[in-house]
Amino acid sequence: MAGVVQRRGRAKLEHSAADFLPSGTSLRALREAAAHCRGCDLYKDATQTVFGEGSARAKVLFVGEQPGDSEDKEGHPFVGPAGKLLSKALEEAGISRSDAYVTNAVKHFKFIWRGKRRIHQKPRRIEVLACTPWLEAEIRHVRPRVVVALGATAAQALLGSSFRLTENRRHFVESPLAPRVIATIHPSAILRAPDDAARRREMAEFVEDLKTIAQAVAA
Ligand code: URA
Ligand code: SF4
Repeated sequence: MAGVVQRRGRAKLEHSAADFLPSGTSLRALREAAAHCRGCDLYKDATQTVFGEGSARAKVLFVGEQPGDSEDKEGHPFVGPAGKLLSKALEEAGISRSDAYVTNAVKHFKFIWRGKRRIHQKPRRIEVLACTPWLEAEIRHVRPRVVVALGATAAQALLGSSFRLTENRRHFVESPLAPRVIATIHPSAILRAPDDAARRREMAEFVEDLKTIAQAVAA
C-alpha cells in the first residue's frame, strides 16, 4: 500500500453545496437538505437530486461521476446501464451491493439535448468542487474503511485534480477522508469499449480491482 497522503486543493467558491449543508445531523437529514441544493447551476435542468444510497454502516463506499439519464428520472444512483454493470461486477467480486454505499461526486445530471435524447456531459471542475461538501458529509457519516473512486472525475474529487487514473489505478492511498482510498475505472468505460474482446478484458480487470478492494474491506 502506498503511504501517500493526498491533499485536495481547496478552491474558494462563492457558492457551493456548503451553503445548504445541515450541521451535525443524520444521513437522512443530509439527503433531505440535498434535495433543495442550489450550490451550482446543475439543479436547474435536472429532474431531481440523486443522493447516495446503501448501508449507513457500509465498510466500502463507491463514488461515481454523476447521475445519468435513468438515475435522474428514478432518483437513485447507479440504476441505469452502468449501474447494472456495476452490480454484476460487484457480485462477481463477492461484494454485496446492499453492504456498500453508492454515491456520486456530483448529485445532479448534467446533459445536453440531442434531438429527443439527453446526452451526458462531463461536469466542470467548479461543479465538482461545488458539490463536494455532500460527498464529504456522506463519507463522514458512513465512515467506510475503503472509499472507491469509479473513474477520473470521482478520483479527482477525492484526491485532487492532479490525480491521474492511468498511473494510480489499483493503488491504495491514505487520505483524510478514509483509511484507504483507491481508484478504478468507471463501469461506463466498459460499456464504451470498442468491441467484445476489449469489453471482456476491461470487465475482467474491473472485477480484479474489485476483488482487491473486497480483500481490503475484509482485512
Ligand atoms: N454513472 C455514474 O457515474 N453514476 C451513476 O449514478 C450512474 C451512472
Ligand atoms: Fe448542489 Fe451538487 Fe446539485 Fe450543484 S450538482 S446543485 S452543488 S447538489
